[in-house]
Amino acid sequence: MIRAKILGTGRGLPERVVTNDDLAEFLDTSDTWIRERTGICQRRIAAKETLLELCEEAARQAMDQSGVEAGELDMIIAATLTADHPLPNLSSSLQRVLGADNAVCFDLSAACSGFIFALTTAQMYIQSGHAKKVLVLGGEILSKIMDWTDRSTCILFGDGAGAAVVGVSENEQGILAADLGSNGKKGSVLSLPGRPVENPFRPAEKGPEKCYVHMEGQEVFKFAVSQVPASIRKLLEESGKSIADVDCFVLHQANLRIIRSAAKRLKAPEEKFFINMERYGNTSAASVPIALDEGIRSGRIKKGDLIVLSGFGGGLTWGSMLVQM
Ligand code: UT7
Repeated sequence: MIRAKILGTGRGLPERVVTNDDLAEFLDTSDTWIRERTGICQRRIAAKETLLELCEEAARQAMDQSGVEAGELDMIIAATLTADHPLPNLSSSLQRVLGADNAVCFDLSAACSGFIFALTTAQMYIQSGHAKKVLVLGGEILSKIMDWTDRSTCILFGDGAGAAVVGVSENEQGILAADLGSNGKKGSVLSLPGRPVENPFRPAEKGPEKCYVHMEGQEVFKFAVSQVPASIRKLLEESGKSIADVDCFVLHQANLRIIRSAAKRLKAPEEKFFINMERYGNTSAASVPIALDEGIRSGRIKKGDLIVLSGFGGGLTWGSMLVQM
């Protein structure tokens, strides 16, 4: 069987660092509240960058690390909610700036699980022999869909992008298994309204003037602390692996308390969980690939390590993946 493998990773982050104290200057909040409830100390906010620029940086790093040239890519999949514009799609814009002329390009929307869904899609194309080298991205400029007067949401999120180049494995290493899921019945707990339909054949509808993320934080929290461990347990059981076999867990960086709860429920030592939310906050589809890239480049994740990637969020959606690096 052909197996897909992560050949290289990269990340692109805005320059501007925004601390909790910076937020407390215009919001009724405090550094203590944000740190204690979320584990977040600062985040990066796109004060001048576009999402395409952040993704290009992440993609170039991933291509450099993997030694893959733009012309070799036969697919680009970008997971995002916040493309700079709906048309052309982000992945085709990346194709243009990278010169990846042979790639088929499409975007994918699965909120904070987006990168795992995109990586699984790349895995399927590679395993079925329909693609050999795929560039996968998760990127968001969430700051443009935040209500900056709503302290219960805007303090959580940050902007950034992460990328992975996926190719054919030469050995037994690579992407071993994935578990994906969705629960549309619970979708309203994390939502973003769209533009109302306007056409000459339909009575005018009053839509929101600006579209912002709405989140029922505690509902999302409850979903995450039950669904993430369940998905990881299922993934490991089906792969014949145990918690003890896993070297590193790279979970979506939404809240430190969610990660601690997942560790407890899985009976896994907290030290095995990669954490960088204190510096970047929750970057939605970008959080798993940014953490993966930092884990690899810092030496925390090494060749041969068995790792679990796991994302969860709007939809509701979730996805976990078992990877032998
Ligand atoms: O990637 C998408 C996934 N999203 C998530 O994973 C988010 C999951 N949820 C969470 O992380 C948490 O629910 C939050 C961090 C969003 C909120 O923490 P919480 O412990 O659930 O707080 P809460 O909503 O129960 O609010 C507790 C209190 C409230 O005040 P009262 O009613 O007790 O007086 C809030 O108004 O904290 C207040 N509060 C704040 N206070 C200071 C809410 N936000 C803030 C704030 N600063 N930023």
